[in-house]
Amino acid sequence: MFHIISSANVGIEPVPITVETDVTMGLRVFSVVGLPDASVREARDRIRAAMRCSGYKFPRGRVTVNLAPANVRKQGPVYDLPIALSILVAMGIIPRTAIEHAVFIGELALDGSVRPVHGALTTALMAHRTGRTAVFVPKQNAAETCALRGLTVYPVESLSTLVDHLLGIKRISPAKRVRQNTTATHRYDFSNVKGQEGAKRGLEIAAAGAHNILLKGPPGAGKTLLARSLPSILPTLTYEESLEVTSITSIAGLPLPATGLIHNRPFRAPHHSASAVALVGGGAWPKPGEVSLAHRGVLFLDELPEFSRYALEHLRQPIEDGCVTISRATGSVQFPARFLLIAAMNPCPCGHFTNPHRQCTCRLNQITKYQKKISGPLLDRFDIVIEVPAVEHDKLLSDETLETSQNVRTRIKQARVVQEKRMKPLGLLTNNEITTGQLDTICHLSSDAKQLLEQALRANKLSARGYTRVRKVARTIADLAGEESIAVEHIAEALQYRGQDALEVS
Ligand SMILES: Nc1ncnc2c1ncn2[C@@H]1O[C@H](COP(=O)(O)OP(=O)(O)OP(=O)(O)O)[C@@H](O)[C@H]1O
Ligand SMILES: [Mg+2]
Ligand SMILES: [Zn+2]
Repeated sequence: MFHIISSANVGIEPVPITVETDVTMGLRVFSVVGLPDASVREARDRIRAAMRCSGYKFPRGRVTVNLAPANVRKQGPVYDLPIALSILVAMGIIPRTAIEHAVFIGELALDGSVRPVHGALTTALMAHRTGRTAVFVPKQNAAETCALRGLTVYPVESLSTLVDHLLGIKRISPAKRVRQNTTATHRYDFSNVKGQEGAKRGLEIAAAGAHNILLKGPPGAGKTLLARSLPSILPTLTYEESLEVTSITSIAGLPLPATGLIHNRPFRAPHHSASAVALVGGGAWPKPGEVSLAHRGVLFLDELPEFSRYALEHLRQPIEDGCVTISRATGSVQFPARFLLIAAMNPCPCGHFTNPHRQCTCRLNQITKYQKKISGPLLDRFDIVIEVPAVEHDKLLSDETLETSQNVRTRIKQARVVQEKRMKPLGLLTNNEITTGQLDTICHLSSDAKQLLEQALRANKLSARGYTRVRKVARTIADLAGEESIAVEHIAEALQYRGQDALEVS
């Protein structure tokens, strides 16, 4: 018995799928097992029509196709091409030797042309891991598949061109790796944001250690502007990170750059009307949500209190775990979701509650109601809370040249190198990922730093989570300063960022 290798994605993990076909005498029946019921009928119709339009007779008799393993959920259209191919092999039109060592994916149109599919890059990863050398993918998926080094990628336009290739009648020329331009491009730059030194410092720390940050301030202070310039100070993606980010984008079916690989860090800014499913992912066929699309990048929630509380509560688990688990009756899938969370909000409905120059026009109960829209547990997850005041007029009018994002990025890169060196053996990249158990070894405190932190804790100004988070932020502040031990000034600065509560102590 021969089989053709194709691939399925469980979360973003590729799994090899074998396609076996048996053709026997008997009644004309075409059955496919191993696919969800709804997609079987459609697949059968497409394959029949595509074969006929490409000039191949569909076999008489009983055709049974098996997609294994059965317990892996498979998305229908990807298997059209391998199924059609396996029928042609079973009929003796294509020799078995022609399909060995290769992986096939592709959806068929009724006229036999091949349509693009989601998640082609992960198929390439699977081929690579299982030692296969050739991957046949829809032409439109060739660029992303090529991004993985060491594979021969054949762009397939139609069923008949693939058959001609396998029979040696007319070879398909392998896709060429597109030269990658790995320099990221940014629309916003720190040098365009006047004043706001405190907020910029907060963003620098957040970017260095991938800490969650909340910007609070009156309208027009520049919160949205600051948040949008955050990607410009983040280091560029490494090759491995690029592969991860591209895989998720490809599985979600979102457009990819012409060169195939994504090099810009993701910046996702979902609208506040976004549902819980849109934020964390889900659906009958689990798809990655905004938190996963922001993996290795930034998730920006502007106008935080306007989001539905229900949707926001779903963020708590991914923020803590760095991944999302979506459970279905047929099993659960996991999507990575390690992102830097940045949120912006006004202090009250009119926005001027904390503004010394303007009168707040809100009633006290309105302010309380507004601030209560964000739950304590979610607020507790922000490592850094920054009050962004209205920008001072002389700062706004001044034309002094300000530090560019590139400059800031250099410092952040340096701090990230330090973190990576320290934590790579533990499988961590940034200080934000440090677990409670690792705190004592990684976030060693000098004695007076410890004393200050204990004082804050005793004064009930910190939750247990706050305590952990302050230590991690202080670790990042020390890393930016190039110091191995966490000193008292690092803890003092980190405490300042816990919002009003911690301020009184430090
Ligand atoms: N610090 C600043 N330097 C330069 N321009 C600024 C600054 N702050 C605000 N601006 C200008 O004001 C505009 C509005 O700022 P932004 O949208 O960031 O305010 P915001 O704090 O998000 O306000 P809101 O609370 O209403 O959302 C910006 O697009 C920019 O043109
Ligand atoms: Mg705004
Ligand atoms: Zn107000």
